Amino acid sequence: MNAIVAVDKNWGIGKNNDLLVHLPTDLKYYKEKTLGKCVIFGQRTLESLPGGRPLPKRDHIILSDDPNYEVTSREGFACDVCHTKEEVLAKAAEYQAAGEEVIVCGGASIYELFLEDCDGFYVTMIDHSFDADRFFPNLDEMGLVVTWESEPMYENGYRFCFRKYERV
Ligand SMILES: NC(=O)c1ccc[n+]([C@@H]2O[C@H](COP(=O)([O-])OP(=O)(O)OC[C@H]3O[C@@H](n4cnc5c(N)ncnc54)[C@H](OP(=O)(O)O)[C@@H]3O)[C@@H](O)[C@H]2O)c1
Repeated sequence: MNAIVAVDKNWGIGKNNDLLVHLPTDLKYYKEKTLGKCVIFGQRTLESLPGGRPLPKRDHIILSDDPNYEVTSREGFACDVCHTKEEVLAKAAEYQAAGEEVIVCGGASIYELFLEDCDGFYVTMIDHSFDADRFFPNLDEMGLVVTWESEPMYENGYRFCFRKYERV
């Protein structure tokens, strides 16, 4: 499995259940990487999306601790609510067996929970320190290797680049 995330200089990822910054080029990249695939979200991140709804044209697996939590899926795509890590992995394995890529999409508690299950990480590195309240594990300190890095880009006054981290 892979994960996708945008981090600041301190590996911060969010504040007040929202992203730290909205960068159109990053959102386009995110769409390219996730469209037509299965995304795994925590309940809080799902609720932070536009309208609190699943994203279009993607299958979803949502992890929630609320046994009564229900989500309406988007037309033509599935949205399953799971309540344990094991349930999520079993559902993810079904998609993978059918040839569909599964991507861990956050938030912080979901990244932490599935860190050991991911081999590749698409990380947008934003060269700025925000006042974050949610963080991603520092992959440099964990010894993961940067196997690809884009040229730097500039948008809305921020410098950022895309990286792929992998376990070696
Ligand atoms: N920068 C990025 O790329 C990016 C991407 C996605 C999200 N984010 C940000 O991340 C933040 C949200 O992260 P978050 O950690 O607060 O929320 P979250 O991970 O999106 O969702 C947490 C939900 O998952 C449930 N959960 C977690 N582990 C569970 C388990 N083992 N079994 C059952 N349920 C479990 C939680 O239950 P409990 O209530 O019991 O904990 C809670 O309902 C927001 O600021 C969002 O914008 C950033």
